[in-house]
Amino acid sequence: MIVENQMQLTEAVVHEMGRTQDPRVHEILESLVRHLHGFIREVRLSEAEFDAALRFVTDLGKLTTESHNETRLMAGSLGVSTLICLLNNGKTGAADTSANLLGPFWRKDSPLTPNGGSILRSQTEGTPLFFKGTVTDEAGQPIVGAEVDIWQASTIGLYENQDPEQAEMNLRGKFFTDEAGSFAFRSVKPSGYPIPTNGPVGALLAAQNRHNFRPAHIHALIYKQGFKTITSQLYSSDDPVLETDAQFGVTRALIADYVEHKGEPAPASDVTGPWVSLAHVFVLEPGEARLPTPPVSAKATLAPQRVAAPVA
Ligand SMILES: [Fe+2]
Repeated sequence: MIVENQMQLTEAVVHEMGRTQDPRVHEILESLVRHLHGFIREVRLSEAEFDAALRFVTDLGKLTTESHNETRLMAGSLGVSTLICLLNNGKTGAADTSANLLGPFWRKDSPLTPNGGSILRSQTEGTPLFFKGTVTDEAGQPIVGAEVDIWQASTIGLYENQDPEQAEMNLRGKFFTDEAGSFAFRSVKPSGYPIPTNGPVGALLAAQNRHNFRPAHIHALIYKQGFKTITSQLYSSDDPVLETDAQFGVTRALIADYVEHKGEPAPASDVTGPWVSLAHVFVLEPGEARLPTPPVSAKATLAPQRVAAPVA
């Protein structure tokens, strides 16, 4: 179709895409073109702004490596990851859900760890944490043999894939739920951490006067045939940036009370000072068991520069 003018251009593009065989691909691409053209008209995007936008997208790709995923980080920073999560879980957003965004730091093949075992694989500062999780179906019945991946940042605010000083797979572990649908592990109480700001995500946050911190949390990915695979995060209720999470992940259903214990015997005899415990029930919906594409697959050779936490 010959392009007559800017308004008719959209119809010309949609018309040419009419040969798309797959109906779902057709639906998605036609809607994408209509919204994208509509957005450009609405903000009257200039040529200089278009040029900057293309550089922005190019940099997302350039910065994404086996140890860092800038595209996932951007999806979170725009609220898109959480929108996708809430649209596809919890009865398409009508009910609370254990699901939460995957984030950019899940690695496949976490070390299989016995129930109750530690996920500390190198010296890691922090208050000892004893965690117990239970996985149930929507009727509250325990799900036996669910595969649970756990991962968290160290208390200096780095995942092991970002930090050459941590052991391979430190603060990561894979568990299977027992006959009661439960699993347990030992770790340290998580801390909030800064997301990297050396690329487009940093530029976005700076332009919007947003800090780059996430509230303290532990991640879980739960996989069992017959149920919809979920990723989850449990956010510490005492964290000062719950309301301003740089990745927009905090939902009320996933704010967790880490219980402090002082002067009480810990579940492990080597712990003599204060410790914390956390118990949580994860609920799976019926659906497809499908693992996501791992955002990262290896450790970085250089640690990112440290930045100060925001003042709440
Ligand atoms: Fe995280």
